[in-house]
Amino acid sequence: MNRDAMQPVSGAEVQQVLERLVQQAPSAFDVDAADRAAVEAKAGAQASTYGEVLPAGIAPLARALGVQRDCVFADLGSGSGLVVFGMALLHPLAASVGIELSRARHAAAQASLAQLKQDAPTVLLPRLESVRLLQGDLLDCDWHGCTHAFVAATCFPPALLHALLTKARSTPTLRRIALTVPLPDAWRPAFSSVGHLPLPMTFSPRVKVHLYEPR
Ligand SMILES: C[S@@+](CC[C@H](N)C(=O)[O-])C[C@H]1O[C@@H](n2cnc3c(N)ncnc32)[C@H](O)[C@@H]1O
Repeated sequence: MNRDAMQPVSGAEVQQVLERLVQQAPSAFDVDAADRAAVEAKAGAQASTYGEVLPAGIAPLARALGVQRDCVFADLGSGSGLVVFGMALLHPLAASVGIELSRARHAAAQASLAQLKQDAPTVLLPRLESVRLLQGDLLDCDWHGCTHAFVAATCFPPALLHALLTKARSTPTLRRIALTVPLPDAWRPAFSSVGHLPLPMTFSPRVKVHLYEPR
């Protein structure tokens, strides 16, 4: 590949790289009961339920969110890290952050990142320097500087969703957030709805993802 590493990379190319990775990397679905129990003890019932964005969905999600070079992207509950890696590969970001409470999924994401660093086209390797994988509760982690966020919140308990929206609303740099659930009515005064997109995920080919901007 004879190209400047700062140039945009096509969604199709990133999809191909990530599809190869999914074949080789450890799965974030395979976690034991103790790991799930630890997630739910901290985050609430059903919070450990897993499903992930398919590689084909990552470029459309980036476009809908408006992620561009120098942005700070965060996947809040990042599982295998696939979305975090995809965003980093698509654009030279200031940071592409994954926050994951499950220790086993965090470990799987770290192993996947190591694998990706071995297999990704050389020209894309500098982009992976923007990736930060954090293990912990998304409510306790620093969202400092975050400009764009994605949350696959389909099974998040209401209290967790409420707390994350409170934190999103008080993150002054946040421009846009994408959620796999509609905003609860009580939150409508705080965010403008700016659209939605169908996203292919492991549990459905067209999950409706809602896009919001803080008012
Ligand atoms: C449905 S999966 C989404 C994975 C990934 N974002 C994707 O869409 O491809 C949701 C993830 O959120 C994690 N999670 C749940 N509560 C959390 C919390 N309070 N802090 C961080 N991660 C959490 C779960 O362990 C799970 O891996």
